[in-house]
Amino acid sequence: MKSFLSVVLFGAAAVALVSSAGTEGEISFEYHRYDELRKALVSVWLQCPSITRIYTIGESFEGRELLVLEMSDNPGTHEPGEPEFKYIANMHGNEAVGRELIIYLAQYLCNQYQQGNETIIDLIDNTRIHLMPSMNPDGFEKAASQPGEIKDWFVGRSNAQGVDLNRNFPDLDRIIYVNERQGGANNHLLQNMKKAVDENTKLAPETKSVIHWIMDIPFVLSANLHGGDVVANYPYDETRTGSTHEYSASPDDVMFKSLAKAYSIYNPVMSDPRRPPCRKNDDDSSFKDGITNGGAWYSVPGGMQDFNYLSSNCFEITLELSCDKFPSEDTLKNYWEQNRNSLVNYIEQVHRGVKGFVRDLQGNPISNATIAVEGIDHDLTTAKDGDYWRLLAPGNYKVAASAPGYLTVIKKVAVPFTPATRVDFELESLVERKEEEREELMDWWKMMSETLNF
Ligand SMILES: *[C@@H]1O[C@H](CO)[C@@H](O)[C@H](O)[C@H]1NC(C)=O
Ligand SMILES: *[C@@H]1O[C@H](CO)[C@@H](O)[C@H](O)[C@H]1NC(C)=O
Ligand SMILES: [Zn+2]
Repeated sequence: MKSFLSVVLFGAAAVALVSSAGTEGEISFEYHRYDELRKALVSVWLQCPSITRIYTIGESFEGRELLVLEMSDNPGTHEPGEPEFKYIANMHGNEAVGRELIIYLAQYLCNQYQQGNETIIDLIDNTRIHLMPSMNPDGFEKAASQPGEIKDWFVGRSNAQGVDLNRNFPDLDRIIYVNERQGGANNHLLQNMKKAVDENTKLAPETKSVIHWIMDIPFVLSANLHGGDVVANYPYDETRTGSTHEYSASPDDVMFKSLAKAYSIYNPVMSDPRRPPCRKNDDDSSFKDGITNGGAWYSVPGGMQDFNYLSSNCFEITLELSCDKFPSEDTLKNYWEQNRNSLVNYIEQVHRGVKGFVRDLQGNPISNATIAVEGIDHDLTTAKDGDYWRLLAPGNYKVAASAPGYLTVIKKVAVPFTPATRVDFELESLVERKEEEREELMDWWKMMSETLNF
């Protein structure tokens, strides 16, 4: 947080210049270097102060801030019952389109909110949205400082230590694949292991900051923006057998396909069945309707997408947005137009499935209660206020809420495509139950004694 003030002051001066030039409220389709990115976020904040907040989750290896713009009707707080969403772009520093699209998205949402667009007002009032334009600001600076229009395919991909951030996350797939066979946890695989994360010297500072972020905020849905191809990729990314190409379904395969499609169908290029591969020899045989299972395309161990799903309640997919990783500036407007509706529609997917609260009989929230769905071997947990969001494809389900010391409650739920069905649970504590049983026994004993005239 320490350098936040400098961001603000620095930005305020810049914005005064920008607005006197009359460009406030418009999107400028250009690349933003590190300082320009900060200014762009600050100008959104200044334009829409009541629905935005800027914060940083940490620093890159070279000391650049990992900036986040939050958009919500109550920025800075988790509102009980309101789902949280995130976009993370540019974790490969040379994949630049996503970074720019997230900046344009912030500007667009702020503009539309101000102009009274009901869809956007609804979205921002009912969702806490976190936008991180760059997870790898050092890599981006390296890629962007190459002279000339044509950028090298690899320069700037890794962080400043040479670490590929999308191979640097703890490899939880290997653990889940063992647990699937031998029994064991089916979620939150890093439970109570934050210290081990902090002490792990193999993790880059960018990775560590994002791990903490994922584990601290009750994110429900996320996407991670890349470039080099055009497809929406969903879990698992790492194959079960270790082979290079193999369909690797997660327990939420049906919902993940639906989420990936919710992005691809609004992108006319991504969903075009006649789109030729980005490069002549590319193997796109696993692509269908603009989506692919990660493992079926190629196996990625240590990726961020699967880490989200296996360490937290968050569902994440990976979006590949452009054949060129760092295309020329004059194509950026076109990429925005291709992706704008997809970017908004994907955020709206956070309002699907089942949601509600788990409380005790006195109405106190039960946090860290387990939400289990029959037939889907992936449990979620409630957040601090006992609130939960269980993304589910349309269908009929049995949902169970349980917590240590309470009686489990199971409810039948019919889930439409959208919106999310509200299902609250009231759990009776076992202590209360024992007390009740004791009282019943006492009553019975009293009655018997009276009847029999002891
Ligand atoms: C409001 O926002 C939605 C979602 O981005 C968009 O499809 C629609 O065109 C916008 N309406 C207006 C009047 O601009
Ligand atoms: C949540 O519950 C699990 C299992 O019941 C437990 O291991 C974990 O420590 C709990 N976490 C917190 C933050 O209480
Ligand atoms: Zn990438």
